[in-house]
Amino acid sequence: MYSSSPSRIHELSVEEQAIYASLDAARMPQHVAIIMDGNGRWAGMRSLKRFLGHQQGAKSVQLVTETASRIGLPWLTLYAFSLENNLRRPRAEVSFLMRLLKSYLESNLERMMDNNVRIRYIGRTHELPAEVQEKMQWAAEATRRNTGTTLTLALNYGGRSEMVDAFRALAAEAALKGMRPEQFTEEDIHRHLYTAHMPDPDLLIRTSGEMRVSNYLLWQIAYAEIFVTERYWPDFRGVHLLEAIAAYQLRERRYGGLSEGDESSSGEENPEHQHKHASVYGE
Ligand code: FPP
Repeated sequence: MYSSSPSRIHELSVEEQAIYASLDAARMPQHVAIIMDGNGRWAGMRSLKRFLGHQQGAKSVQLVTETASRIGLPWLTLYAFSLENNLRRPRAEVSFLMRLLKSYLESNLERMMDNNVRIRYIGRTHELPAEVQEKMQWAAEATRRNTGTTLTLALNYGGRSEMVDAFRALAAEAALKGMRPEQFTEEDIHRHLYTAHMPDPDLLIRTSGEMRVSNYLLWQIAYAEIFVTERYWPDFRGVHLLEAIAAYQLRERRYGGLSEGDESSSGEENPEHQHKHASVYGE
């Protein structure tokens, strides 16, 4: 649920307020997940080193988080560092990203507190350098009691490895409790995901125009609306988050069911009509 704390809408910029005013308060997403892409291209377009793109991207992280907290978005989950980034990027870039994460947490903690933001992480974070893990724990602990937006950073994260971890944990539980495989349910898998404590994302945003989900929250985005913008992440701001939410509100979410207007006239007298509007795969 959106927070019941006093509204912070007046803290939005004039441009943000104009878009916010057009939104339907009853249909706000509870969870927005973002694939932050295009830092390198943003830098390349300006003949700058990739590192500067990441640095600028960290500023976007803070600004977008603050807008999310002002509108009372309960859950914001950002893909900050994938398992694949860790394995495939040059070591110098990986260690720059690690240093950037540490300094980002250190220098933005006060702003996180001012914005009532709680910081959490998902991913195989135990494989990150010890000093990065320490800083992460420090920021999570300091913001633990905040009640506004939960900012979850996906770090050393992969959707498939998350499922492997979940299935291993479920198998261990099953062995302990004597559960049979045919008893396993979707709920059992959900309980063992890194995201067990949060609702699935309603909206997945990807910057820089690529039409991929890149191993991000694979289980959780089953019914998410996907919004892709050409804008590179370092240029993405709160106003663009609000634009994405406005586009999301124009979508009709059916979860594999029928359109609202179709419910009374569904199927029997006109099976062709039903077929056209309701794919068995759930659109
Ligand atoms: C993609 O840019 C982005 C990443 C590698 C991860 C996101 C990292 C940040 C936004 C930096 C800091 C984050 C925090 C939380 C401090 P890319 O390098 O893949 O861009 P390209 O596809 O244009 O090369």
